[in-house]
Amino acid sequence: MSANPKSEIRNRSKWATQAPPLKPSMRECTDMVDADLNREVITRVREAADLVEVAGDHVRLKKRGRSWEGLCPFHEEKTPSFSVDAEKGLYYCFGCHQGGDVFKFLMQLENLSFPESVERLARRYGVQLPPRSPEARRRREEGERQRALLEEAQHFFGECLEQAEGSAARSELERRGFAKDCWRDYGFGYAPDEWRRLVEHMSRRHPEGALVECGLAVSPESGTSPYDRFRNRLTFPIRSGDGTLIAFGGRILGDGEPKYLNSPETAVFRKRSTLFCLDRARRAMADESRALVVEGYFDCLSLHRVGVKNVVATLGTALTSDHARLLKRRLGPDGVAILCYDGDSAGRRAAATGAGVLLETGVEVTILALPAGMDPDDLIRESGEGAFRDLLERPTPLLEFVLADLPPDPAQRRRSGLKLAPLVCSATDPALRQNLVEELARQLYLSPREIQEHGRRALRSGPSAQAVPRVSMPPGERELARILLDCSDAWRQKILELVHTEYIEDSRVRRLLDDAVEIGSTDGERDFVSELLGRSTDPDMSSLVAELCTSPMPEVTDESIRIQLETLLQHQARERSLRLAPLIAAAEEREDHAELDRLLAEKARIRREFAEI
Ligand code: UTP
Ligand code: MN
Repeated sequence: MSANPKSEIRNRSKWATQAPPLKPSMRECTDMVDADLNREVITRVREAADLVEVAGDHVRLKKRGRSWEGLCPFHEEKTPSFSVDAEKGLYYCFGCHQGGDVFKFLMQLENLSFPESVERLARRYGVQLPPRSPEARRRREEGERQRALLEEAQHFFGECLEQAEGSAARSELERRGFAKDCWRDYGFGYAPDEWRRLVEHMSRRHPEGALVECGLAVSPESGTSPYDRFRNRLTFPIRSGDGTLIAFGGRILGDGEPKYLNSPETAVFRKRSTLFCLDRARRAMADESRALVVEGYFDCLSLHRVGVKNVVATLGTALTSDHARLLKRRLGPDGVAILCYDGDSAGRRAAATGAGVLLETGVEVTILALPAGMDPDDLIRESGEGAFRDLLERPTPLLEFVLADLPPDPAQRRRSGLKLAPLVCSATDPALRQNLVEELARQLYLSPREIQEHGRRALRSGPSAQAVPRVSMPPGERELARILLDCSDAWRQKILELVHTEYIEDSRVRRLLDDAVEIGSTDGERDFVSELLGRSTDPDMSSLVAELCTSPMPEVTDESIRIQLETLLQHQARERSLRLAPLIAAAEEREDHAELDRLLAEKARIRREFAEI
């Protein structure tokens, strides 16, 4: 293990005490980065990178004393409150309190994930990143092969759109208001009305099996030759959040079934975790902290066309929790998703279901209800974009929207209204949940307590039974997690031995500790951070590690570890004995002596442990 990381952190201690805690940034960790990132290489990249230069791409910096100052790129301002400490490689804005290191800067400003920012800087400053494991490399190469095929097909479809045979597709685009000069930007194309045009075009260079694997061709069950999946369709690319081509969608020209056809699920395309146009929308979503979610491809595309940029669509599926997490990451902590569904009853149901998923993920929801039978694309073309923008200005609050369906009779209203209790209670954000609970209570003339009890009961017995989240964050958990990444192997084992993982309340920290237990001793040989990053494919986990790795923190010394550990263990001991108290009372009441003995012994053990701390 190199000594660098520690001295790095030690150097920052002064700065860290001046800076308020950084807002956790939730960014997804993509698999696109072809490197096995470990702490050593992360440190090397950090040391090679020049924050003054990187920030200087976005901000005019002037040297003042030991630091550099300029107008903050994260908020509007007229006098400079953004400063860069070149020596420590940290920036901080005294106006909006954003701050961090060079990775964090790129993550925030360019919406990159942590691995993406490391890769970008490594390339810029000539640091060689260690290659991925053979298996990961194979997976990645397979993905790249598929993407290369898709790109070739994209080129082919684009060419066909220009040819005589593309005339129906061209008029469809014009009918929908897409002028020729934007076709290339949106990547529109035409898939000819023949069985094997694309297959034959590409099979000169690629085996037909590869075309089937990436979804461009269909292999008939009869075992005869594969044929083109997309035929006589206006095609458009489906891209991942970072703009990589991962699939196609195609609208039939004229009548025919199905109206829309997608690529099937492949190694690079998962419908349930893809949001159409996220690559175009991510910047506007982050800037505005609002995202509009629509149902249709062309609803989404038409809105982008008229300049409403914070719009994405689900791909002919209901909104999933993956979608919700993607939205949350892009929107940041105060984000609002505006669900825009059809005004008919199916649309209303879909909106309510989607709202539940978003609330569970911690995203606030409002609803943009359209006139029945109209979708955004219709509305824009019939009444103009102004009409749509007006609606967008005043979306309907979620409760108002779902309550509109309730009968006027008070008793009936209350009975049906109570069915909404689980929806409002499923909000994981405490402040949001409280607002919703209170509002629903007011509307139904019930007390918030009644709503909460009803909601919790339904949630516990319902199919998605989940613990009602706790409101407060116990002291010391994140600090401890941060220490785990930087302390010696011996300390790590000691911490894991002492801390009761099940009493850790932050679920990500809890999982980090569980992972650490599984990893076990690294014998000072293996790098703990890279083991952690390597074993988890969960973006939430990697983003926690990234966040912890990049946030400044006080010096890690035996003394600071001891203090943090003490705080946490004391808190845990208190929590555990608090939880024992009602159990002991109940056992006494029942005169259950065996249970009572067990509980008292447990209590004594906690007291002993507490004294040891
Ligand atoms: P609609 O049938 O309402 O079509 O499907 P639309 O989007 O208004 O299409 P246009 O304007 O006539 O071209 C709504 C959405 O449902 C999905 C698509 O995402 C579509 O945009 N869908 C619909 C499919 O995936 N497949 C289909 O066959 C039909
Ligand atoms: Mn439509």
